[in-house]
Amino acid sequence: MPTSLAFDVYGTLIDTHGVMVALEPQVGPQAGAFSRVWRDKQLEYSFRRGLMRQYEPFSICTSQALDHTCALFGLHLSPEGRQGLLDAYQTLPAFPDAAEGLTQARKAGFRLFAFSNGRADAVEALLVQAGLRDYFLEVVSVDEVQSFKPNPEVYAHFLRRAGTVGSEAWMISGNPFDVLGALGAGMRAAWVQRSPETPFDPWGVEPTLTVRSLLDLATRIRP
Ligand code: 2OP
Repeated sequence: MPTSLAFDVYGTLIDTHGVMVALEPQVGPQAGAFSRVWRDKQLEYSFRRGLMRQYEPFSICTSQALDHTCALFGLHLSPEGRQGLLDAYQTLPAFPDAAEGLTQARKAGFRLFAFSNGRADAVEALLVQAGLRDYFLEVVSVDEVQSFKPNPEVYAHFLRRAGTVGSEAWMISGNPFDVLGALGAGMRAAWVQRSPETPFDPWGVEPTLTVRSLLDLATRIRP
């Protein structure tokens, strides 16, 4: 069977900082810092909910992280303004290399999956509006096991859903915690390091492969 590629969604195919367009009118010059705190807090909430076994969908982590970030920045949003930002999270843009990178990977014969912290319905809608859904055989969500990356259980769930084993499956992610999570669960993992300034986590474990763009994937992994 050809090698399976599990593409992370938020931060790998889809640019979470695309929310800047909606943030700038409401937050002004602090929009960049706000966007980074919102994203970091969203992930922190998912990690904590996973550890505490108090699962709620990723969209709840996102909305509660928004409320925290507003409180931190002293931003008072109207209910419509808050909803506008959450809606912007459903219409985030694809990274510019995503469509071409996925086209090449599919042509090379890989089996492509989207594998995300987001619920399947949210990820389906996000990928459709970004023009990326049709590249994937299936969308696999951590929601099906009610936990979050990097719990080893969610990677094991992906392998079961894809009908494969870790030695024949790669996680493709721009998120170092996701790369380490997949490696720890016995998968191969490619880190998409879009900026040379982004460091990897110094845990003494290296990605199987590091690429600067999704355009480098298909030639660097064997199907
Ligand atoms: C995702 O699972 C980690 O947020 C990232 O899509």
